[in-house]
Amino acid sequence: MISHPEIDEIIFLSSIDSTNLEVQRRRIEFAKRNILLLSDEQTAGKGQHGRSWDSGVGLGLWMSLFLGKPAYLTNNLQLLSLYTGLVIHNTISNFISADVKVKWPNDIMIADRKCGGILTEIQWLGESASSATIGIGINLNHILTDFPASIRNLATSLLLAGWPKPDRDQLLDHLLQEFFGNIRLLSQPENLVETWNSSAYKLNEIIQWQNSDQQFEGRFLGVNPEGEAQILIGNTIRCFQSGEIRFGRLS
Ligand code: BTN
Repeated sequence: MISHPEIDEIIFLSSIDSTNLEVQRRRIEFAKRNILLLSDEQTAGKGQHGRSWDSGVGLGLWMSLFLGKPAYLTNNLQLLSLYTGLVIHNTISNFISADVKVKWPNDIMIADRKCGGILTEIQWLGESASSATIGIGINLNHILTDFPASIRNLATSLLLAGWPKPDRDQLLDHLLQEFFGNIRLLSQPENLVETWNSSAYKLNEIIQWQNSDQQFEGRFLGVNPEGEAQILIGNTIRCFQSGEIRFGRLS
């Protein structure tokens, strides 16, 4: 039975549109508490940039961690996704020998394929946060044909990466220990980004970059303590709060 002293309630569902949406609908009920909500499947899982997140029944860990306790809402919330990426990186690395990387801002990569993602949504009350919802999706049991054709050569699962019998509860238990056990890192931005950069996907490599209004090539220099991506373009280092490292070459 999964439990953690910092979590007030764990809600297991068999099916829901999206765990993040369900948490949002129930956030008054959840106020001031830390709640974990997970589902065997999502029928309308949400990804970054308004994309959908494929979340078939029994194929992955589909969960939202709702942080409502004030102690978790005070510092460096802009680093929460990076921190969670590191937590997932460390957790997964415990179960497979393949090299796991964190891809800015919110992806978990194994050998150039995405095996997990994070969708953090912060609820603001004026200047301060009233809660934070960290949506986590980790592909566990997929074989290649379980992925939609459009992402089949971009995605992977922990099964495909070498964990013979992925166990959702075991993974979750480890993830919670890791998340709450290292939470002090959130108040140490320099340490956090140094650790994150040491596992960063494409660090010091030439990458293709895209944000809402531009795309270009540059050298990825990791993140700074504000959580921004630093990219060397020509002789200038530019810092970005949003955007993504693209797969493939620019068209
Ligand atoms: C991404 O695009 O990389 C982010 C994916 C986040 C998916 C998770 S699955 C659980 C939670 N509920 C959602 O609807 N999305 C997140």
